[in-house]
Amino acid sequence: MAKFSNIVLVGFMGTGKTSVGGLVAARSGFKFIDMDDVIQRRTGKTIPVIFSEDGEPKFRSLERALVRELSELSGQVIAAGGGIVLNPDNIADFERTGLVVCLLASAEVILKRTASDTGRPLLAGEGKMDKIIRLLEARKKLYERIPHHIDTTDLSVEEVANGIMSLFGRGMTPMSIL
Ligand code: S3P
Repeated sequence: MAKFSNIVLVGFMGTGKTSVGGLVAARSGFKFIDMDDVIQRRTGKTIPVIFSEDGEPKFRSLERALVRELSELSGQVIAAGGGIVLNPDNIADFERTGLVVCLLASAEVILKRTASDTGRPLLAGEGKMDKIIRLLEARKKLYERIPHHIDTTDLSVEEVANGIMSLFGRGMTPMSIL
């Protein structure tokens, strides 16, 4: 039996959760779930519209409810939103059955990866680099609390996926390999 029922990717915006998650899902045979996509589909609103019409606290409560739901299921690779660490209960729920891996990247690379993006309200408008630096600093300790980290700054999507699959493989008991 596998030790982990799910693989959960957390980390700041632009650290590669969605692209890496898709590849890890293909390799593990797990189903890929992007939490932001699920929230957008269910509410019929984009993330920026949820933030502007309903406010960030509403978005965080939608996220919280979805974490509770997903952590009861298995066989999923979950790309969580970057702010999932703001509520430690989210991480505790995911860690009960999942391998939780935090992806990291330098502020410069995050800026590059999110440059043409308009779907992230916390980085919208002028002064994107300042916003990235400030948010990274504010959340640093929360991301650091997660035991598994992969710095994606200089890695390809394939290399990051390999790292995750190797962590996942180490979580298998000998029985599950037979
Ligand atoms: C957020 C990250 C976003 C999205 C929302 C808030 C955050 O997800 O959930 O814009 O607080 O860091 P990604 O990390 O997938 O961009």
